[in-house]
Amino acid sequence: MTVAADLQRAYRDTIGHFASGVTIVTSTGPDGPAGMTTNAVTSLSLEPLLLLVCFELRSRTLAVVRASERFAVNILPADERELAAVFASKRVAREKFESVTHATAHGVPVLDAALAWLACELRELHPGGDHLIGIGEVVGMGIGEERAPLVWYRGGYTTTAEHS
Ligand SMILES: Cc1cc2nc3c(=O)[nH]c(=O)nc-3n(C[C@H](O)[C@H](O)[C@H](O)COP(=O)(O)O)c2cc1C
Repeated sequence: MTVAADLQRAYRDTIGHFASGVTIVTSTGPDGPAGMTTNAVTSLSLEPLLLLVCFELRSRTLAVVRASERFAVNILPADERELAAVFASKRVAREKFESVTHATAHGVPVLDAALAWLACELRELHPGGDHLIGIGEVVGMGIGEERAPLVWYRGGYTTTAEHS
């Protein structure tokens, strides 16, 4: 059964009031690093250390994560809106990575631009409509220089009033 376009719009508009951080989820495949802008990220468990990422089925990054069974969550600062736009695009992965320098930690690409990062081993993938819910075990993490966070709110980028 298909959901009517106006109902999808109403859902997006309503859930858009739930402000989130913005991340770039990265992984490494046979052709090099891949990544996409992602806000469906949630801390899941402390024992063990688990986090959850929702991947759209058509995402090319999902295919790389499935194959490598590893990914990183790179949390973006407020001044990286353009980077978020690049990684939300359908440019080829090599072109996306021309916009940012990165290092490899725990087998996954960690962006120099990240406010903080978490490296994960993929533990589970569950179906969720037109997405897959990926559960990763955190195997490494790091915090960069303190800066204001990038925030996604009502379909646009903003930051927190306290840090802006
Ligand atoms: C703010 C923002 C948040 C996004 N969050 C997600 C997400 O949580 N999961 C997802 O699969 N796509 C998300 N996207 C869309 C992907 O970034 C987009 O489909 C991208 O082109 C996928 O790239 P890929 O095909 O190279 O993996 C988001 C886009 C934006 C702008």
